[in-house]
Amino acid sequence: MDSFEFNKIAAAILVTALFVIGVNEIGNSIFTVKKPSKPGYVVEGVATTQSDKKDEGKKEQKLADVKILLASANIGAGENTFKKCVACHSNNKDGAVKIGPPMWGIVGKKAGSHPNYKYSSAMVAYGKNWTVDELNEYLYKPAQYVKGTKMAFAGIEKDQERADLIAYLNSLK
Ligand code: HEC
Repeated sequence: MDSFEFNKIAAAILVTALFVIGVNEIGNSIFTVKKPSKPGYVVEGVATTQSDKKDEGKKEQKLADVKILLASANIGAGENTFKKCVACHSNNKDGAVKIGPPMWGIVGKKAGSHPNYKYSSAMVAYGKNWTVDELNEYLYKPAQYVKGTKMAFAGIEKDQERADLIAYLNSLK
């Protein structure tokens, strides 16, 4: 190979390299891909992103109004919602232990304190008093609020429905 031939090859490689770099640069400047703030799909159990956490904050804010909702709560509607609970909870005085503990006098009572009921260790450890606010949080998402509870109930999403139910629970005394 003479030196002229070598120069031609070297020049060809250099030009090709410059071309590739150039295309890449132009491509980058034309196609800027913005990362979506939320992923297109959410995989259960995977760590949440920053934006999801913000949403959670909003929900907590929303849950906090239960006392205002209680002012206009409908006990009759709450009694109707209690149909979702009655398979597991009695609602009468001296009511029996069912799958879950009795609900008589539950508002204000210490969690995990019915003498004839075998609670999960999670509920015993939780151990707070069932104030209106605590019930509101628990009944929104039981398994999330008392992690490890054996109450197999998804929760009540609607704020007014929970408020009505809590008003009804408060009448059980
Ligand atoms: C599938 C059965 C089931 C359903 C339905 C259910 N619960 Fe429960 N609930 C339980 C069990 C079991 C426990 C005991 C939880 C533990 O020990 O972790 C419990 C515990 C509770 C407690 C705490 C009681 C205490 O003595 O500290 C409250 C309050 C409660 N449930 C309210 C409700 C309400 C209101 C509903 C209806 C919206 C409901 N539950 C629906 C099974 C159920």
